Amino acid sequence: MSKDTAVKPRGRIEPPTLVAIREAAGLLRAGDIVGMPTETVYGLAADALNPEAVKKIFAAKGRPADHPLIVHLPSAEHLPRWAESIPKDAIALARAFWPGPLTLILKRAPEVPDEVTGGQDTVGLRVPSHSIALAMLQVFGSGIAAPSANRFGRISPTTALHVQEDLGERVAMVVDGGPCAFGIESTILDFSRDVPEILRLGAITPDAIARVIGRRPRVRGEAGETPSPHEGAGQENAAAQAALAPRVSGALAAHYAPRTPLRLVPSALLADEAATLAGEGSRVAVLAYGQADPQDSRLIWQAMPADPAAYAHDLYASLRTADTLDADFILVEALPDEPAWHAIADRLGRAAVGSGEGG
Ligand code: TXA
Ligand code: MG
Repeated sequence: MSKDTAVKPRGRIEPPTLVAIREAAGLLRAGDIVGMPTETVYGLAADALNPEAVKKIFAAKGRPADHPLIVHLPSAEHLPRWAESIPKDAIALARAFWPGPLTLILKRAPEVPDEVTGGQDTVGLRVPSHSIALAMLQVFGSGIAAPSANRFGRISPTTALHVQEDLGERVAMVVDGGPCAFGIESTILDFSRDVPEILRLGAITPDAIARVIGRRPRVRGEAGETPSPHEGAGQENAAAQAALAPRVSGALAAHYAPRTPLRLVPSALLADEAATLAGEGSRVAVLAYGQADPQDSRLIWQAMPADPAAYAHDLYASLRTADTLDADFILVEALPDEPAWHAIADRLGRAAVGSGEGG
């Protein structure tokens, strides 16, 4: 680390110049953690081959050590160094969607540290499409482990300022790549078991995957899916099966959560429910994509985009703003039951479950 770097304040936001990208790569090489923009959400980056650096991610996030991290690669050519066996369908998907918001879970190569995989025999890999993330990866030249740069369980960051607010001095610096284009996390597709299974929905939909590999992946939690190993497994079997099932903190029921209690309300009931709560003296923030603002001065009404991509882009920033209004409730208009909205509805459902927990 240069003398210069040593005196620079931690947590500062740097514009995405080549100098800043080189500095970020140098900090990663030195075992430090930095905020990195991606096209989905901001990541908290560390050298994926440095266990001590990776441990700093868990400490900064307050994340349990057995929740594995995604390793970001400069290109698909790096895959064989990180994954042991790569099914041909996984290669086809990497060709189709990388760089982009698709994470592939594959059997890990031996050199991937346990700290990254949470001790599992698999590793999550993706090539991000954000030009600044790609530049950081190319200058760094190896895998970068990066979870979303928020405190564990909280709302993912989609701007450099969000990262600074959440992790402040815990990060060496944040490279500012502007607001994230997608705004929700990557689709996670598990190839480590018999059938490909989506563990987390994202911008790459099950149908888009099916068009490439010729079969629809299973979607964890979706109605009609074959029962997971947990369900119906005998007592003696359950522990062994639980050890096999990949852990996905993004799939915990409570996640992405604001501190203010959040409720999802069907469109037809939204205005009434908001008025009732306000009538009881509650301060109510509303996120609505279809409803017109009823011009009720007791409500803090925020119009959301009616297009799913634009809605996803704005979602986390809007939730963060709603969470700063000192409201008693955040009411969110329930989303259409259509494939393009499913990943967003998934995040909002978890935000509702995890909301209102103060901490
Ligand atoms: O879009 C994204 O994926 C962002 C950006 C920064 O790339 N990253 C992200 O990371 O969302 P994180 O750690 O917040 O969520 C990754 C999820 C976690 O729920 C983790 O448990 C799961 O991926 N995961 C990582 N490796 C895994 C593995 N080997 N098996 C199963 N799940 C895994
Ligand atoms: Mg996360």
